[in-house]
Amino acid sequence: MKKHQGKVIVVTGAGRGLGRAYAERLSSEGARVAVAEIDAVAGAHAAEELRKSGMDSMFIETDVSSKEATEAMAARVLEKWGQIDGLVANAGLANSVGGRTYDEITVAQWDRIMEVNVRGTWLSCRAVAPYMQERKNGSIVTVSSDTAAWGSPKLLHYVTSKGAVEAFTRAMARELGPDGVRINCVAPGLLNNEATAGVPEAKREWNIRNRAIQREGTTDDIVGLVSFLLSDEASFITGQLIVANGGLVFH
Ligand SMILES: NC(=O)c1ccc[n+]([C@@H]2O[C@H](COP(=O)([O-])OP(=O)(O)OC[C@H]3O[C@@H](n4cnc5c(N)ncnc54)[C@H](O)[C@@H]3O)[C@@H](O)[C@H]2O)c1
Repeated sequence: MKKHQGKVIVVTGAGRGLGRAYAERLSSEGARVAVAEIDAVAGAHAAEELRKSGMDSMFIETDVSSKEATEAMAARVLEKWGQIDGLVANAGLANSVGGRTYDEITVAQWDRIMEVNVRGTWLSCRAVAPYMQERKNGSIVTVSSDTAAWGSPKLLHYVTSKGAVEAFTRAMARELGPDGVRINCVAPGLLNNEATAGVPEAKREWNIRNRAIQREGTTDDIVGLVSFLLSDEASFITGQLIVANGGLVFH
């Protein structure tokens, strides 16, 4: 039997990048995956590709920063599949957000990052967790970044948002744990993917040089970790932060 056979897993921001890779991996491991994505073209395409590979998948246009949209998303998943076993709260503003000092970031930029990365994580969990609690089963993975531990400069709104996601995960673990629902946080290091294409070469090289494992990180370095945390193999792990960054900062 496949690892996630029979499960229903929601992946937010699964239209491209890491979210899409999580969706593909979880789908190949037997899950029915709901692609909850704000970009309608990318989201529909991602779900279509999963169906082509023989797995059941649906796209739901979702802005995770909206309470109405996240609630409607959960309702659609339940209507179609009758259960929700997992959530990867992956959607985040990560693309081209860096490069401004603390006094150059505008209030509008700060607020939008918080809306999507922090409120969006909360609302995504808020929409699906009650159904998990009802069934006394479920696993959620939230997404931080090792920039929160390192304190990367010129990225203050993003770094702050990811620190909030880590604290959120711990507090949620205590609220959900009594009902048998787990929640953990992954913090990838700088990866070589589309979202980081604008990162200066010097910063990329600095990251590699200062890692215990001195190479670039890729999507493949993260997907297995997320799949593991969603699986029953991680049945006694909750409220934890797992940093996957080749050993740039240790946690
Ligand atoms: N790429 C990296 O090196 C890296 C490192 C550490 C952490 N992360 C985190 O991993 C996650 C995914 O990163 P990525 O590299 O795939 O980025 P990405 O920009 O390629 O993908 C983000 C996805 O989220 C979607 N999205 C954005 N706003 C949304 C909203 N309001 N509602 C729903 N969907 C929305 C986008 O359309 C996109 O499909 C982010 O939370 C990011 O902070 C990435």
